Amino acid sequence: MNAVSDAVARPPLPAPIGLLAELTHRCPLRCPYCSNPLELDRRSAELDTATWQRVLTQAAALGVLHVHLSGGEPTARQDIVEITRTCAELGLYSNLITSGVAGALGKLDALSEAGLDHVQLSVQAAEAGNAERIGGLKDAQPQKFAFAERVTALGLPLTLNAVIHRGNIAEVPALIDLAVRLGAKRLEVAHTQYYGWAYVNRAALMPAKPDVDRSIRTVEEARERLKGQLVIDLVVPDYYAKYPKACAGGWGRRLMNVTPTGKVLPCHAAETIPGLEFWHVQDHALAEIWADSPAFRAYRGTEWMQEPCRSCDRREKDWGGCRCQALALAGDAAATDPACSLSPLHGKVQALAVAESALETAPDYQYRTIGGAPRVATPEGAPA
Ligand code: SF4
Ligand code: FES
Repeated sequence: MNAVSDAVARPPLPAPIGLLAELTHRCPLRCPYCSNPLELDRRSAELDTATWQRVLTQAAALGVLHVHLSGGEPTARQDIVEITRTCAELGLYSNLITSGVAGALGKLDALSEAGLDHVQLSVQAAEAGNAERIGGLKDAQPQKFAFAERVTALGLPLTLNAVIHRGNIAEVPALIDLAVRLGAKRLEVAHTQYYGWAYVNRAALMPAKPDVDRSIRTVEEARERLKGQLVIDLVVPDYYAKYPKACAGGWGRRLMNVTPTGKVLPCHAAETIPGLEFWHVQDHALAEIWADSPAFRAYRGTEWMQEPCRSCDRREKDWGGCRCQALALAGDAAATDPACSLSPLHGKVQALAVAESALETAPDYQYRTIGGAPRVATPEGAPA
């Protein structure tokens, strides 16, 4: 699959900028668009503290600048403070990606003292009932607000992350107001990417095109109005886009993703692609994995591309879009991402999005669980 076979002929490989440390798949929330794999890693198989510290040390030596402490819910780990302190000691910028519920607030002061640099808090909606139905956890919203208040009181920069879909797209204006009220410096209005659990729940999540267009206009207007106060990042939905995004900044170009059990992936959904060989931090140093792991080399650069990507002048801008989405929609991870208007499958994908978003009643959400059957929302709201 990869035409690069001669190490001597390879161009110099830039270092990855970011490391996504998926410390655990355990999470008190069960968002129906979760990007974690359908098979979640169990606690007993998670890497221990010393191994994470070794991985972080190797990451710093490799040239990584940012570490995203993620999950699942990273504060579910007993050693989250120690891991954060290691980042600070190594000069790695640490970003805690958290739901802000369960035990997160109780650990926040210690995390700040250990040198945490930034907090990214997820919000499922602005309205509490809706947020708690989407996240599958009752009483989550007041916990999130108390958490956000403490983040800003500690002087930590706060980003709110809202994944947008049919169930909350009408709340984009309210989410912007919420970000201002909570003192966030940045808001991510991120339309759902359809892989992982979001692919399972696609028909329940797909928004209608007019609603998507309205949400984009709302963001553009708010950016003007809130200049200097709030930065708003907008991730537009792939299925309605003209060109795809450079997923993960291009395969094997900017990011490494370490799973709770130590497998190193080029993107968080890479395990959905059959036949890829992933290396583990227990067996190889991070630098070796970055340079030589078969999974990282499989779709790095442009040699693997088919038409129309192969001769397209955008091929080094978006790197052919998303490999995992190409597999899910075209059945071939090396195909042009069907989100691209130049893909022969683009029309079918758009028609599918229109058909799903036109369903009069959205199907119930399938909730993620570790080692159990998916949980389904009740008409009353979050599952108990
Ligand atoms: Fe990007 Fe490929 Fe589409 Fe060109 S054809 S815009 S490289 S996805
Ligand atoms: Fe895997 Fe996009 S999620 S390449």
